[in-house]
Amino acid sequence: MFQNLKPLAADPILGLMAAYRLDNNAHKIDLGVGIYKDETGATPVMRAVKEAEARLLASQTSKSYVGPAGAAGYNEEIAQLLLGRDLAEKTKALRCTFQTPGGCGGLRLAAEFINASKPGARIFVSDPTWANHIPLLGDAGLEIVKYPYYDYGTHSIRFDEMMSALHQAKEGDLVLLHGCCHNPCGADLNQEQWQQVRDLALKNGFTPFIDIAYQGLGDGVEEDCYGVRLLADSVPELIVVSSCSKNFGIYRERVGALTVICETPASMKGTASLIAYIARGIYSMPPDHGATVVEMILTDTALRSDWESELTQMRERINGLRTQFVERLAASGVSRDFSFIQNEKGMFSFLGVDVSQVQTLVNDYSIYLVDSSRINVAGINDNNIDYLVDSIKKVVG
Ligand code: LMR
Repeated sequence: MFQNLKPLAADPILGLMAAYRLDNNAHKIDLGVGIYKDETGATPVMRAVKEAEARLLASQTSKSYVGPAGAAGYNEEIAQLLLGRDLAEKTKALRCTFQTPGGCGGLRLAAEFINASKPGARIFVSDPTWANHIPLLGDAGLEIVKYPYYDYGTHSIRFDEMMSALHQAKEGDLVLLHGCCHNPCGADLNQEQWQQVRDLALKNGFTPFIDIAYQGLGDGVEEDCYGVRLLADSVPELIVVSSCSKNFGIYRERVGALTVICETPASMKGTASLIAYIARGIYSMPPDHGATVVEMILTDTALRSDWESELTQMRERINGLRTQFVERLAASGVSRDFSFIQNEKGMFSFLGVDVSQVQTLVNDYSIYLVDSSRINVAGINDNNIDYLVDSIKKVVG
């Protein structure tokens, strides 16, 4: 049965992580996988997470099953984090939130749910998008249609082309949007562009589907939800998948959520029961630990404020690195203008070099980045920036 199976190519992002670990070069730099790193290059457990974990260890009295939807308290906190308290209240009878095994689990659960509701439904995804969107959504049976998004020449959003492509999206189609900190390009829609997308969704009847994995790492916890809130307050149906991997730094705990807003309370009940049925058939129920930690942080005033201040520090560090990196590149006399990196948001930007230059950076300089030239800005620090800038200058000229 399995005799003819051949090894597949390594995952474009996780494969880099493995290669980096095996590299003995003392100067190696990991700009690959999207994890936050501090100035020492470490990915620490956040203070509020450590404290909540200690309290949980001391207070937990049972590990019996929770259920396919996960913890109700976590789900409500996540809905409020995304929507804000007023909108969460306003949409209460129309919305359901499911705790999921990470954002990936949420994306797959959403895709299976969509495919069960409308087999083979079309989903429009930005070109480029996060590489794992394609198998997570496509392998569930959805038809992937790409819409133009990023102009590699001008380092800006191809908004007019995007909108004319999205005119093809009609009722029964979905449009995947990155809530903030676009992965991989870091170029986000501005408020006016979100409004135009909203207007088109209302006119054409497609269902927006927002993936928001970096809330708090762009402009702020509230600010990063502009698009989610705008659409949640206006379109009849909305799907939002969110992740706590990055903003709580709990990558391996697998904590995410799927939130669906429906047109009527009755359709919400049907939606929730179908999602529960699908979750039960895939993984039965999500892991508990990380979600309980998140719920504890969000419901405790002191923990929440400590979490927000550490998250603010992380965001400010990334934004500061963007400026520093651009200035250092310019000062090196490199032939290209990299100033666009300063205007982008979140962990990622494209360096804008070609695949062979990426290969040279990886193979000759041990600087690990994705083939598309996506870099994780958080991987830069005071100890490696000289080597990084020198190497880019040598490769780019
Ligand atoms: C990334 O894009 O690097 C992260 O979202 C990690 C992953 O799973 O790919």
